[in-house]
Amino acid sequence: MSTPLRIGIIGAGQISQGACNDINADPRASVVAIADPSAERCAALADKHAVTQRFTSGEDLIAADGIDAVYVATPNAYHAPLAQAALEAGRHVILDKPFALNLDEAKACAAAARAQDRILMLGMNQRFKHSSQIMRARVKAGQFGEVYHAKACWRRRAGIPRIGSWFTRKAISGGGGLLDIGVHMLDLALYILDNFRPLSVSGATYTKLGNQGLGGGGWGMGEVDPESTFDVDDFATALIKLDGGLSLCLDASWALHQPQPGLDEVQVFGTQAGGCANSGEIFRFSDDGYQILQGPPTTGLDTVGGNRFSNFIGACCGEHPPEVTIDQALAVQAIIDAIYQSSASGRDVAIDLA
Ligand SMILES: NC(=O)c1ccc[n+]([C@@H]2O[C@H](COP(=O)([O-])OP(=O)(O)OC[C@H]3O[C@@H](n4cnc5c(N)ncnc54)[C@H](O)[C@@H]3O)[C@@H](O)[C@H]2O)c1
Repeated sequence: MSTPLRIGIIGAGQISQGACNDINADPRASVVAIADPSAERCAALADKHAVTQRFTSGEDLIAADGIDAVYVATPNAYHAPLAQAALEAGRHVILDKPFALNLDEAKACAAAARAQDRILMLGMNQRFKHSSQIMRARVKAGQFGEVYHAKACWRRRAGIPRIGSWFTRKAISGGGGLLDIGVHMLDLALYILDNFRPLSVSGATYTKLGNQGLGGGGWGMGEVDPESTFDVDDFATALIKLDGGLSLCLDASWALHQPQPGLDEVQVFGTQAGGCANSGEIFRFSDDGYQILQGPPTTGLDTVGGNRFSNFIGACCGEHPPEVTIDQALAVQAIIDAIYQSSASGRDVAIDLA
């Protein structure tokens, strides 16, 4: 492995703008190549970071010499195929969410990582927020007693990335708000609970506002096709039962009639207290009624520092295991698949990860 780690970026869209900064900010790594079918977007990002190797295909970047690892940040349909090709070529991979369009694709990718003994890490950036780390550490330290239920949501009132972009075309995105932002909160809730052992799912997904042209947001740099059909979910809800008697409710919306413009939170409910990850508030009974407080103290709690890229780079350098494991990523993908299946069938779906 060369030092610094030579990283190629596949997809020069919106998320890669910040990703390039994050990678280059780490002294152990450097962005050495960028690929995007839009030569213009590729050149704009490459010029900004003085990257000389430029490609219009991800496959060509993967085949190029002098690349140790790849960040895949393309539309979702290309995630697993590109990640698998990179792993089979001996590169480490950090893959932006969602893992894949379905569990079979994800499993093939995971098998390639294991066969090649390469790092495959999903770039679940929400886990690395300080508030997420503190909440996970509080649960681990028993500050809530026995945690038996959690609620996770990312509910936007009008936050469809852009209507008519690849995000809203199922053939390329694989799904809507559930795959795009629901996956973040699902992963974060399971991470906070430290329980990636789903047993069953009851889910419902809806396409009710985006198909009326309502709820558009402003994210994304890819082309918009105004003639395309909005055929993905703009709201999803699910009850997930986990091993050990825990339950988790998940809500994800790109567009929804609700009072707030946006709400993203993971709440946990335990026998001693309840708490919110983002606000940091803790709720519990006290001698004189009910307390809502910003405590107890957080010193001494076991947290992980850095961001998703520094964690991935450290894992590639053999300093520690990746904070997002392959098994965890497969469990999240299995739940997402089950939510869509449950919605289509109108029935609960059992999950067996064995
Ligand atoms: N982790 C997060 O918080 C977060 C946030 C936003 C987006 N994302 C993920 O990042 C990925 C990219 O999203 P974005 O917002 O940058 O989208 P975007 O539309 O801004 O950019 C996508 C880019 O990919 C390029 N592209 C299309 N097909 C390609 C291919 N086969 N090979 C290489 N490049 C290709 C497009 O030309 C475009 O430049 C998505 O999977 C999305 O889910 C993650």
